[in-house]
Amino acid sequence: MRNNRSYSNYDEKGYPELHLGYADVILLGQWDGLSNALYSLHEGENLWVQLNLDTDVGVVETYTLLTGTVEIQYEGIRRSFQLGETIDASQYEKTILFHALSDAEILIKTTVEIFEPGFFETQVLQEEADAIEKLDGYTYMHCNRIKNYSIEVWTELDMPKSQLLTLRWGAYFHDIGKLAVPLEILNKPGPLTSAEWDIMKAHTIEGAKMIRNHKVDMLRESAFIVEQHHERYDGTGYPYRLKGDDISLEASIVSVVDSFDAMTTDRIYRKALPTKDAVQELVKGRGTQFNPEVVDAFLSVLKKRRNRWE
Ligand SMILES: [Fe+2]
Repeated sequence: MRNNRSYSNYDEKGYPELHLGYADVILLGQWDGLSNALYSLHEGENLWVQLNLDTDVGVVETYTLLTGTVEIQYEGIRRSFQLGETIDASQYEKTILFHALSDAEILIKTTVEIFEPGFFETQVLQEEADAIEKLDGYTYMHCNRIKNYSIEVWTELDMPKSQLLTLRWGAYFHDIGKLAVPLEILNKPGPLTSAEWDIMKAHTIEGAKMIRNHKVDMLRESAFIVEQHHERYDGTGYPYRLKGDDISLEASIVSVVDSFDAMTTDRIYRKALPTKDAVQELVKGRGTQFNPEVVDAFLSVLKKRRNRWE
């Protein structure tokens, strides 16, 4: 799955390599006071970039297209990213979207103090994401899609950007508690007994504990999202049977996008539903299973996505 063609030699020198969900990344090294990393985007994938201009003062972050065909979208305007062209993210106030029309490689130069801690933390996180993938038949793209959809719904609802990081990690690791569920329960082919079902449901509480005590501190604030992602708007969910606005908006978003993604993805035991059927299910659950405002926002996100790329 990973494309090592052009940078396998860096591995031999012992440089770390990982994939961040949306891209494979390797750290090439530091020079001129900057960290240099190579991102490999796969065809059809997106990379969102936004600096926090208030706190990231003096931070350098540039993106140079090395290979492939990529489009840039900024404030609704799309254009092609020229080979060799460099984009300085500090010149852009809003989110820049890179969309790969073919496999592509982008060189990213970033201030060392900003890049390295994030890079190594991400490596720890990626190992955990891989572990979840192995357990539950998910692909890392599932976690990544949940994260991306959640961020888009949050933005659609005009919620503050300052909370995005909390949402991002909560969405990405919503099912981390499944690491605590015994494999024979997780992979049981037949229906679960009620005792087994109780253990399964506890992945919310166990996951919240894992995140609350996580060695990567930026994750800790996301624990409430993991804890509440199976609550239902009508109060019949788990683990606490929270109702309506007692469920955080973040968890309400993860609940909607996770259900949608589960329905529209092939799983071992069933085929994916067509998008329009999955949408119908969301509409059916609007106000019972799901927060109605979140369903509406997600439907408009889906509509915008369709207009953007099809
Ligand atoms: Fe879950």
